[in-house]
Parts: sequence; structure tokens; C-alpha cells
Amino acid sequence: MQKIWDEIAKEYSKRKFFGFDLFKEEKEKLPIFLENCKTILDAGCGTGRHLNFFEKLDKKVVGIDISKKMIKEARKKFRGYLAIGNILSLPFKDKAFDCAICLGNSLGSLLENWKDGLKELIRISKKKVIVEVRVSKESKIEKRFWNKKKFYLVKVWSLEEIEKELKKMKLRFKIEIGHKFKNYFFVYWIIDLKN
Ligand SMILES: C[S@@+](CC[C@H](N)C(=O)[O-])C[C@H]1O[C@@H](n2cnc3c(N)ncnc32)[C@H](O)[C@@H]1O
Repeated sequence: MQKIWDEIAKEYSKRKFFGFDLFKEEKEKLPIFLENCKTILDAGCGTGRHLNFFEKLDKKVVGIDISKKMIKEARKKFRGYLAIGNILSLPFKDKAFDCAICLGNSLGSLLENWKDGLKELIRISKKKVIVEVRVSKESKIEKRFWNKKKFYLVKVWSLEEIEKELKKMKLRFKIEIGHKFKNYFFVYWIIDLKN
């Protein structure tokens, strides 16, 4: 695990769009993506900014994160079930949830292991997997500076790479554009698992 997540958890929880609040696109799109899902695993939930939003949509939600300190912050605002755990080996049975969701480029924290993480999300889901990742012109591992001294490493994807890799994994998916920043944007992968 990158130690940085524990180190910045407290500050992270105070920053808008990192620690609390949702982007306009999230508020609009997530309820639609999750329409037929009652039970949800928020994998890499961070400080838990999506958890109460899902509960208000009448979902049963569990948040899991590898960082103990992130979970401690999430606990301050969410009264439901939280766990400390790794996306790469989730402590749940096959098809335990209707949907696994992995937002804010948490999948990018797995760096080159992201496909193993995606396979775990698929394993524990019955209906859908929804992933939100950071997209750039080219795919790469990037240093994201939290402040002058602290950084974390994340994978960012090109749109071409997403299409190519998800097709290679023989997944049925669609891509939706999420929030846009100056130099990059987020996209959602909505992976349909039903036959
Ligand atoms: C950029 S934050 C996103 C948090 C949240 N999903 C959001 O949208 O605000 C990435 C989170 O992924 C967590 N994370 C990193 N590697 C992980 C892993 N292998 N398993 C579970 N969580 C992980 C970090 O601890 C951090 O809380």
C-alpha cells in the first residue's frame, strides 16, 4: 500500500470533491447507473463522500478502503458498514453485491495491477461494475502532488487503452464522460454482467 493515503487522510477529508461533496455529473449520473442495484460495494471509498449519497438513494452500501485512516475519516460521517481491505483480494463471496463501484480513480491506485482489481470487482458483483478513472492523452503512471512534499502514484488511461483492454477482457461495457478539468477528465466504465 502507498503510505501516503494514511498520511493525508485527515486533510483529504476537508477538501471539497476529495473529502466531501460530489461533482454535478456524479449527482446526475450515479443514480441512473445504479438504478437496478440495491446492494453496493464502494471499493476504495476514501473518506466516504459517496456513501450517504447512496444511502439516500435507498441502497444498502458497504465501504471498503485499504487505508485505516481513510476509513477512520469515513466513520465520522457514515454510520453504515465499513471495512479495511484491499481491492486486490476483497473479503466477500462471489456475487455478494448487485454492484461494485470504484470512484475517483481508486482503480488507478493499483497501478499496473488494475486488471486484477477489476477482476475482483467483477467477481463479487451480480449485475454491474462501475469504475471511474482519470483519462489523459496518453496512458501512464503519474505522480500526483498533494502538496509540495507529498505525492501519490496513479495510473491514468487514454480512451483508446480503455476500449482496447476492456474488449480484450471480453466485457460488455459503455463509457460515459464525467467531470472535466483543464488538462484531463474522468470517464465512467459501466460494465454489464448480466447474461
Ligand atoms: C483518490 S482516492 C478516491 C476516494 C473515493 N473513491 C472518492 O472518489 O473520493 C483513492 C482511494 O483508494 C484507496 N486505495 C488505494 N489502493 C487501494 C487498494 N489496493 N484497495 C483498496 N483501496 C485502495 C486509497 O486509500 C484512497 O482512499
